[in-house]
Amino acid sequence: MPTVVVTGATGAVGAATVESLERRHANVVKLSRPDFDLSSFASVRAAARELNRDRTHIDALLLIAAVYAPAYKKSAEGLELMLTVNHLAPFLLTNLLRDRLEGGGRVITVAAPSSTRVDLARLMDRDRFSAFHTFGATKAANLMFTFELARRAKRWDVRANAFHPGHVRSELMREQPRPLRFVTRLLSRDPERAGQDLAELALSPAKAGTTGWFFKGLKRIDPPRSTLDEGQQAALWRRSAELVELEGGF
Ligand SMILES: NC(=O)c1ccc[n+]([C@@H]2O[C@H](COP(=O)([O-])OP(=O)(O)OC[C@H]3O[C@@H](n4cnc5c(N)ncnc54)[C@H](OP(=O)(O)O)[C@@H]3O)[C@@H](O)[C@H]2O)c1
Repeated sequence: MPTVVVTGATGAVGAATVESLERRHANVVKLSRPDFDLSSFASVRAAARELNRDRTHIDALLLIAAVYAPAYKKSAEGLELMLTVNHLAPFLLTNLLRDRLEGGGRVITVAAPSSTRVDLARLMDRDRFSAFHTFGATKAANLMFTFELARRAKRWDVRANAFHPGHVRSELMREQPRPLRFVTRLLSRDPERAGQDLAELALSPAKAGTTGWFFKGLKRIDPPRSTLDEGQQAALWRRSAELVELEGGF
């Protein structure tokens, strides 16, 4: 029975994914609040310690959780909340689970085709905070993280891909102005399809060797050009590692 670790299992895409995975008889480990909180690196480290303790191989790690915060908020360690929950904490979790993923593990990060520039200094500057900008930058960071991870993780025989679910009905943007939420809802579909596609990417033997791809559904799509610069991907990785105080990892 394959083991799949999932963040964001209580959300729209996450719950649909868990349902699909369980229908396919996966052993699903749900990392969810209150026990597991991506806004605290200490909580991420505690969860990783727990998973490392029982030494089970992780066949897939699905990084689905994200938050949209209209105002500047801080994480437990004093960094901006969206940067922490959407990028830094999943970055830390993935690296801490390296040995569990080694030998065929698949890391799938749920992202969006965002071309917002990722400048960590700006994202941490309260005076320059803009919710849309920060959220978009974290989704671009998800893509840059994936492509850098795909290169680094080859040594451990680990794959990394990103997934765009399309517009899905969820509460992610609940703090947006009401008219905008109304329009988004009209354009969105139920999350079941996204859940089925994610489960397929996590479990299907046909996708076992795929790495460094950006999927929309089960189709490969072109990521925004701005996310493809390998120098910038590497720089983002190094700075992220400093911010989360990572030792080792991929
Ligand atoms: N919906 C769309 O149209 C769309 C489009 C493109 C990409 N995406 C991506 O799809 C993913 C899932 O989004 P969704 O639409 O399903 O959103 P959602 O329903 O709001 O789900 C968000 C999930 O993240 C979890 N989460 C938030 N903050 C957390 C924290 N501090 N610690 C642990 N978990 C936390 C939530 O847990 P709680 O239940 O505890 O709040 C929830 O499970 C996100 O990465 C999003 O960027 C969505």
